[in-house]
Amino acid sequence: MAGLEGWRRTHHLGELRATDVGKEVILMGWVQRRRDLGQLVFIDLRDRFGITQIVLDPSDNQQIHAMGSDIKFEYVLGAKGKVFPRPDGMINKTMPTGEVEVRVSELKVYSKSAELPFPIRDDADVTEALRLKYRYLDLRRDTAKNKILSRIKFVQCVRRAIEAHGFLEFETPILCRSTPEGARDYLVPSRIHPGKFYALPQSPQLFKQLLMVAGFDRYYQIAKCFRDEDLRADRQPEFTQIDCEMSFVDEALIRETFEQVMAKAIYDYNGRSIQIPFPKMTYRQSMEDYGVDKPDTRFDMKLVDLSDLVRDSDFKVFSQAVQSGGIVNALTVKGKAESFSRKDIDQLTEMAKKYGAAGLATVKKIAGSGQASWQSSIAKFFNDTSIAAIDKRLSLEPGDLVLFGAGPFSTTKASLGAIRVHLGQQLGFCDPSKLNFLWVTDFPMFEKDAESGRLVACHHPFTTPNPEDMHLLDSDPLKVRAAAYDMVLNGFELCSGSIRIHDSELQQKIFDCIGIEKEEAAKRFGFLLEAFRYGPPPHGGLAIGLDRLVMILTNTSGIKDVIPFPKTQTATCLMTDAPNTVADAQLKELHIKLDLQKGAK
Ligand code: AMO
Repeated sequence: MAGLEGWRRTHHLGELRATDVGKEVILMGWVQRRRDLGQLVFIDLRDRFGITQIVLDPSDNQQIHAMGSDIKFEYVLGAKGKVFPRPDGMINKTMPTGEVEVRVSELKVYSKSAELPFPIRDDADVTEALRLKYRYLDLRRDTAKNKILSRIKFVQCVRRAIEAHGFLEFETPILCRSTPEGARDYLVPSRIHPGKFYALPQSPQLFKQLLMVAGFDRYYQIAKCFRDEDLRADRQPEFTQIDCEMSFVDEALIRETFEQVMAKAIYDYNGRSIQIPFPKMTYRQSMEDYGVDKPDTRFDMKLVDLSDLVRDSDFKVFSQAVQSGGIVNALTVKGKAESFSRKDIDQLTEMAKKYGAAGLATVKKIAGSGQASWQSSIAKFFNDTSIAAIDKRLSLEPGDLVLFGAGPFSTTKASLGAIRVHLGQQLGFCDPSKLNFLWVTDFPMFEKDAESGRLVACHHPFTTPNPEDMHLLDSDPLKVRAAAYDMVLNGFELCSGSIRIHDSELQQKIFDCIGIEKEEAAKRFGFLLEAFRYGPPPHGGLAIGLDRLVMILTNTSGIKDVIPFPKTQTATCLMTDAPNTVADAQLKELHIKLDLQKGAK
């Protein structure tokens, strides 16, 4: 196989134009296509910038023309030659280089390609497993490549936007002690410290706080984070945060700063102006209206509370739900009653059940008033006055479909909230051209862990409580609001952050609330508490999920497509076959003995 042998590329393959006609050039790239027209061989040579047609003509060079018949897809070639205008009728207006071709005087084959597992073409139908196994080939295809290029461009824009606000870029350790962010840690055994482990960072949370104690004032990092958690379309076990921290700031200034950062980065990235400041909504309002803490505000369809109107109804499912402290909510799908079959409603009911609801009652509103205007098995339980009151609250019109949920606040909201999102997507309400940013604020400080029944921090335990609620820490901790905020975009949690505690006494108090006693706190976070003894500034920050943001900006449905080498839904890498077993000797060196359950591989 040939080497470069002193050749230097003069142009990349998206570059040549009619104005270059007559130039001697050296091109290098992959064979996208070869057409042998007997006399002439045409090769489309491709690199990441584009495609240029080269021509092997026996009247230019017999030997080179003969080489043409052996050249196959994805061979890597170097071609020296002269730029010519394409003959009339051969001009390709759809290609930037389509007015020219290069007639080759010297040709080198740098490497050959084995038969491909799939064609390097966007229109080739390839399974995800094959794409991930041969990700380097997948990335030669335009769509896959362009998503990664978009990511790179966005990162460049975001760096500029953040640095314009005086943030300094840091690197923080990857081999860490575990910091609690709610997920399981990935652990790394220590060879030199038998029985001890590092944890890969779930986020650089504590290091960035310590950088504030050190006085750096504004920190940022494009930070790799690792979390061993259940994966979904918007979650990967290793992902990237645009992680930031600021000193001497309040919530409002943090929000303002990052609205400006986002607006500038997105404008530089694709010329789009986004409206700032972003709207703000409390967590409580978001749960009330949308049933989730990350509402997609591109469409309306709010949940409406009917508890007061149905408390005394004859429909026991409703009245008992309210009388036992729960709620009854409705979700109206305007004008779509006829689009939903029995089967569709059954599917929605199944979805509601997955979120813990007992079921779903439905009404199709038809012309008229009172019972007769409700096509529903529950109509008989309501008198005309109640129906009129419900119709009024929901502004019902003939053709509307109403879905009712009844039960405890959390499951009723969660199930209707999930159905709302599902219907929004199904009915095409989620306009992909919209970017609806929103701040969700006033998150609760604590929640009850479903398994242990213990209090856990909703965001993380370094978040400060809202000063107005400090007095409730002992008496009613579940009512305490945190100085925590999320940035939501089109129904995705894009970013979370908070004002941090900078007082070791308050920090210990929060640890107490979540059952971390003094000795344990000293053991796990002694370094932080120690640092807080030496003048920590008031500080706060946030972390933006880069992968999620690029996924939305590129209108991609899954996070994998915007990560060069993503993992599967079960956290494996199909290309390198990670995770994998290691040699016994390596385990021994790490003082590890395996205790695999029967059946585990
Ligand atoms: P949090 O845990 O909310 O906050 O993470 C911040 C943002 O990171 C993104 N994200 C993920 N993206 C892809 N895959 C995942 N598994 C994943 N997990 C989180 C989300 C999320 O909003 N240290 C705090 C931030 C702070 O307080 O400054 C933190 O990590 O977009």
